[in-house]
Amino acid sequence: MAQAREIFKTRLGFLLIAAGCAVGIGNVWRFPFIVGQYGGLYFVLMYLFFLLALGIPLLTVELAIGRASRASMAYCYEELEQKGSRWHINKWWQFSGNYFLMAFYVVVAGWMLYYFLSFAFGDIPQDITRDAAGADFGALLGDPVLMYTCVLATVIFSFAIVALGVIRGLERYTKPLMIVLIVLLAFMACRSVTLDGFADGMKFYLAPDFSKLENNFGEAVWAAMGQAFFTLSVGFGAIAIFGSYMSEKHKILNEAIFIATFDTIIAFLSGVVIFPACFTYGIEPDAGPNLLFITMTVVFSHMSFGNFWGALFFLFMVIAAVSTMIAVFESSIAGCMELLKWGRKKAVIINFFFIILICLIPLLGFNVLSWVQPLGEGSCTLDFFDFLVSNNIMPIGSMVLVLFVCAKNGMTFKRYIDECNVGKGFNMSYKLYGYYKYILTLIVAVVLAVGYYQIYMKLFG
Ligand code: PHE
Repeated sequence: MAQAREIFKTRLGFLLIAAGCAVGIGNVWRFPFIVGQYGGLYFVLMYLFFLLALGIPLLTVELAIGRASRASMAYCYEELEQKGSRWHINKWWQFSGNYFLMAFYVVVAGWMLYYFLSFAFGDIPQDITRDAAGADFGALLGDPVLMYTCVLATVIFSFAIVALGVIRGLERYTKPLMIVLIVLLAFMACRSVTLDGFADGMKFYLAPDFSKLENNFGEAVWAAMGQAFFTLSVGFGAIAIFGSYMSEKHKILNEAIFIATFDTIIAFLSGVVIFPACFTYGIEPDAGPNLLFITMTVVFSHMSFGNFWGALFFLFMVIAAVSTMIAVFESSIAGCMELLKWGRKKAVIINFFFIILICLIPLLGFNVLSWVQPLGEGSCTLDFFDFLVSNNIMPIGSMVLVLFVCAKNGMTFKRYIDECNVGKGFNMSYKLYGYYKYILTLIVAVVLAVGYYQIYMKLFG
């Protein structure tokens, strides 16, 4: 788009915002529990493989598309495709990923805020039992008004920052938020090393355990790939938008490596904080939402100064979630501004109302709409949104973006590599073409197919 576009003032600002987009619920909650679930170290190795083989290349694709087009998902295809081609049709469903993701993401962020406040105000009794903590979480899920209040608080805060613009809002506030996040995590990880259960916790977390993989190897591979996509935020332009605000001083591969490394360190350390604490108090770690909101609540209630540690822990979670929300709201707002020629204010207001409306579907799925079980018995509307985004829009969207940069009537591989190589840093080679076009897309396609097969077997098998 030929319009004056804001460019981040500092490299650190850009890197921390892109990392803030990547670091979120996926790192601090999903990563630890799926590592524990699927064989510890073996799973981590699979995940690292996908990160290197798919994640980093995909990050470079999104950043290059953003920087070359200086546009959001709403116009990046039009800016880069060759005349007469129809790549831009994809933008519609890809752009919708921003909304489907946020619809359920804000609900989880609301839970985190609720637990932060509960610890901060000392509302969690000491030595709470698992049943009582479970009942409390159940009561929260059964109370749509309370949940909605917490969700609204996180959404209003995030939109307020986005309303201020790229430099005055995002860059100014996300940078300190991310620094607080790192300090909190480092502090909690150091303390974790001193706990009695450190060795046992780390063993549970990382010891290679093939028995956990034997029966569900396919599922584990699928989960590892899904996690690599989810955690790096690739597939529907949430990273591309920050490419569009980035300067031309550094090569794209350097920035992609930084984002992926940062993201992985935060994910890894979250597990270091969670598991030793569980083992110190003899509390079996759970999988799924229960790990954070039930297990960890029980754990903190047993610690001395538990309210303090609990509040810090959930504050860390809230910051991780909110930094992602800010980034994704920016992506949808920038898209609306370009597509509909709205001003920022108007885009913020309309998006705000839209988000607080659609988040009601996942939110009410725990109470009023609990009879809706879209993915089989026991599933809820939130699971469906998660499935739609994590298992469909992100991988398929990523595949389309890769094909787009390879296509002669798309961006063309030459232009993509040229864009990556502007600035200082590591070069990327034109020789990667074959890898991108055939191997990368094939890996995604195979794992997608395995995933669908598994869902099919679960529902009808
Ligand atoms: N990466 C984010 C997380 O780990 C989730 C996300 C996905 C954000 C897609 C933006 C786009 O929580």
